[in-house]
Amino acid sequence: MQHKIGVIRGDGIGPEIVAEAIKVLDAVAAKYSHSFEYTEILMGGASIDACGVPLTDEAIAAAKASDAVLMGSIGGDAKTSPWYKLPPEKRPEAGLLGIRKALGLFANLRPAYLYNELKEACPLREDIVANGFDMMIMRELTGGLYFGERGTEERDGLVTAYDTLVYNENEIRRIAIRAFDIAMKRHKKVCSVDKANVLDSSRLWRKVVDEVSADYPEVECSHMLVDNAAMQLVKDPAQFDVILTENMFGDILSDEASMLTGSLGMLSSASLNETKFGLYEPSGGSAPDIAGKGIANPIATILSAAMMLRYSFDMDDEALAVEGAVKKALKDGYRTGDIMPAEDISGIIQTDTKGMGDCIVERLA
Ligand code: IPM
Ligand code: MG
Repeated sequence: MQHKIGVIRGDGIGPEIVAEAIKVLDAVAAKYSHSFEYTEILMGGASIDACGVPLTDEAIAAAKASDAVLMGSIGGDAKTSPWYKLPPEKRPEAGLLGIRKALGLFANLRPAYLYNELKEACPLREDIVANGFDMMIMRELTGGLYFGERGTEERDGLVTAYDTLVYNENEIRRIAIRAFDIAMKRHKKVCSVDKANVLDSSRLWRKVVDEVSADYPEVECSHMLVDNAAMQLVKDPAQFDVILTENMFGDILSDEASMLTGSLGMLSSASLNETKFGLYEPSGGSAPDIAGKGIANPIATILSAAMMLRYSFDMDDEALAVEGAVKKALKDGYRTGDIMPAEDISGIIQTDTKGMGDCIVERLA
């Protein structure tokens, strides 16, 4: 059976890291006798340059015609790139928000896992991460503040801007169900993060999560306020299994969690709708400062490709093989610059984007 993969190489380091993920997918295809067919899709800054807008109807149609989409990263340097002279709805980020909405990708999975080998790259004290951590951040991706009514207008003679945080019960229920389903396959704990001491949307969130929780008696469900969650993540990250939260809180907490894994370059992600379709992208940005240098860490993108194998193609063995190969490359001492330890450690070898991709391909069991 042939699997159709849409490829959004994107901007900045995007093309470099996507090339390594495709190299790994091709190695998987050869080893396990699969056939992956790739279709290039333009989005973000690259689409602005070619088509004048960050997301075209053709791009959406091409994504919909694929079984899954692999994406690098989009966007440029906000200070220097001409893309940021455009109105907000024409900038690269609008393309990403637009494709998530157009494809109904409401469930964003961001696994944050501390590899034993990267403990030195973790900014937390050794005793705090002695037992590592392994959490899945489930971020609602097509509602909330990023999609609510917004505007800038004059009120009482003052320029006034507003954004609204809106959720209906169905939007909360479907992401909650996903989170509990995933918790059932993990350590059976869901911590729902909100700001229910202040926000109405959070109070509804909490109520619906409790209703869903009643259908999963085996899963331990707790609630935590988002400010406390930000603190608990650095105090005791091992307490978390699945973190379930709304769009903006998830955006912020997932960046925080990514740093705990050693680097933003380690955090993969999957954005899923009701079907098997998914868009897979590293959680980090386009890193314009190092674009074109060939030194970016491709691991988050390669791990995102592994998530594609698991969630869109039901290829669990293949996904495990890729994850195992990443682990082995780290164990054998290979590091890109972002995860190099501060002091000299014998057996640690610095490599670049391509070198890391090759190391991982060589270790596919
Ligand atoms: C992310 C990014 C995006 C988001 C931006 C680029 C719109 O920060 O995927 O976390 O906020 O969702
Ligand atoms: Mg973000």
